[in-house]
Amino acid sequence: SQPHGFGKAPVNIALSKYWGKRDSVLNLPMNGSVSISLPGLGTETTVQPFGGQQDQIELNGQVLDHSVVFAKRLSQFLDFFRSAACPAFRVVTQNSVPTAAGLASSASGYAALVVALDDLFGWQLAKTELSLLARLGSGSASRSLFDGFALWHKGERPDGMDSFAESVDSVWPEFCIGLVKVNTQEKAVGSTLGMQQTVETCDLYQSWPPQAQRDLETITQAIIQQDFHTLAKTAEHNALSMHATMIATWPPIVYWQPESIAAMQIVWRLREQGVAVYFTMDAGPNLKLILQTQDQAIVQQAFAEQSTPVEFILPFQRQ
Ligand code: DP6
Repeated sequence: SQPHGFGKAPVNIALSKYWGKRDSVLNLPMNGSVSISLPGLGTETTVQPFGGQQDQIELNGQVLDHSVVFAKRLSQFLDFFRSAACPAFRVVTQNSVPTAAGLASSASGYAALVVALDDLFGWQLAKTELSLLARLGSGSASRSLFDGFALWHKGERPDGMDSFAESVDSVWPEFCIGLVKVNTQEKAVGSTLGMQQTVETCDLYQSWPPQAQRDLETITQAIIQQDFHTLAKTAEHNALSMHATMIATWPPIVYWQPESIAAMQIVWRLREQGVAVYFTMDAGPNLKLILQTQDQAIVQQAFAEQSTPVEFILPFQRQ
């Protein structure tokens, strides 16, 4: 039978965000970022050499047409790895993000694919090297090679060889993420295009890279010291600052829905009542709450009163 490689990787949520590239071919970021991976949510992929002319890409049980954007982008990424012996690939990928709130799967997808390619070709690369390769598929994928917290270094080199992620060591059993799914059918602007337009047209953007770099350092320190308040407050401020640059882009990029703002108001009201809950948001309308296990019940109740369910994830506890 044909040799095949297997890989899996978790989704991750940035606490200090990646927004803007200094090189759009190599996915080199304007600033570093730091994330938390969500165990149990992610991608499983198998990859094998394929006899056909073109790649065969199967996503969640369906073979994709070559014209589908997702398939095109994946094939472009696979161009890095073709050879005479292996001119095309068959990729079978399964996302396990069933109920969770609108989580992007490109990060876990490219990370899992790189792990599967490493398995197929027997490279036995280090995780930081796999992170470099995953970054070429999608910037945020560089962080999905790791469980727990991960730090993606901005890097300085034009060839990107110093722009990879590594683990930030901290086992924090009380650390909790709450996924708030905001109902929407609306098709949003993808991150790749969105960040390009922001860099090109947003005057506010010049303040973003230095702030993001500062926030990254603050959050990384807070992770090491397990200083929840500093971490969570900096993460919320960072996310809102990123969204400010999006809104000040032309054409404007507004990912928020009325329900997003309603959820923010629940968070802010809880904080007024002394509950240590914060949020972050990415290129979509959903909120990701940042809290500690001790406050799970009160947060759950406050959202339930507004008929908004929250799905809690404990990144450092067995699911
Ligand atoms: C808002 O990694 O999806 O989620 O590199 O173009 O694939 P590409 O972009 P992507 O951007 C993620 C943007 C973000 C913030 C973050 O995850 O850091």
